[in-house]
Amino acid sequence: QSSVLHKFKGILFSTMSSEELLNSLDFFNAREDDVFLVSYPKSGTHWIAEVIGNIPNAQISLTSPIELGDISKFDELKMNCKRRVIPTHLSYNMLPVNIKQKQCKIIYIIRNPKDTAVSLFHYYRDNPNLPGIETWAAFFELFLRGDVVYGSWFDHVLSWEEHKNDKNILIIFYEEMKRDLSKSIKKITTFLGINVSDSEISKIAGKTSFSEMKNNAAKENCDPNHTICALTSNRNLVFRKGAVGDWINYFTAKQRRIFDELFTEKMKHSELARHFEDYS
Ligand code: A3P
Repeated sequence: QSSVLHKFKGILFSTMSSEELLNSLDFFNAREDDVFLVSYPKSGTHWIAEVIGNIPNAQISLTSPIELGDISKFDELKMNCKRRVIPTHLSYNMLPVNIKQKQCKIIYIIRNPKDTAVSLFHYYRDNPNLPGIETWAAFFELFLRGDVVYGSWFDHVLSWEEHKNDKNILIIFYEEMKRDLSKSIKKITTFLGINVSDSEISKIAGKTSFSEMKNNAAKENCDPNHTICALTSNRNLVFRKGAVGDWINYFTAKQRRIFDELFTEKMKHSELARHFEDYS
């Protein structure tokens, strides 16, 4: 085990998420108008955050992740007077209970697990806040076992599965955003109850294209107040390839078979998982 990660309730977290904070999540006071932006790492969190950040007159404030920092976190969040959009990589079970009681709006973004694994592999390699990893083969084993930061992809998605029809939860797929970004933006703005014209939607789509976001990240200084993912505030580590199906360049035939077997077993009752049949 490395010094940059620690285990909490059997799940790996960054040491930037203090044990004290993780232990106190249920003391978080949610506001009725809070919005949570939830994902397993590398599923497109920054993308959705950028979409939300570009909605004109949204009157929102994007905070850093709820699980990032120490016990002073909740005071810091309290200072925010605007409608908060709070990112997190927590599973449903670990999400502060008050968020569920108040039925705050939640956007959960999911990406096909093979591309997510490849993306997380590169994050492990490039991000100094994650352990070093030698080879794809080694990382593949860790990913399958859920021995990676935020635990198993399968368990994460399954924790949200039961809540997919809750009216306060919007599920967005990365692949659906790739296919028709404007349509996804429309879904998001409608869900948030913000009126946005079609021409404004095309503008948002332009500003949140992969190339635009990657170029902007290269130009800006990294700002800790602008942290979307609890694993880095350096946005240059985030925009790698931005593609669907890159996994094919990494998985061997055998890895694909092993992965598909586990997927079929773990996700056999999952309706969300059916969405990924086209991407395996
Ligand atoms: P890749 O590593 O496959 O390129 P997260 O924001 O949850 O950390 O997810 C990061 C992944 O989303 C990276 O995937 C990144 O390139 C991709 N991504 C970020 N912005 C994107 C955009 N505007 N369009 C497509 N993919 C994007």
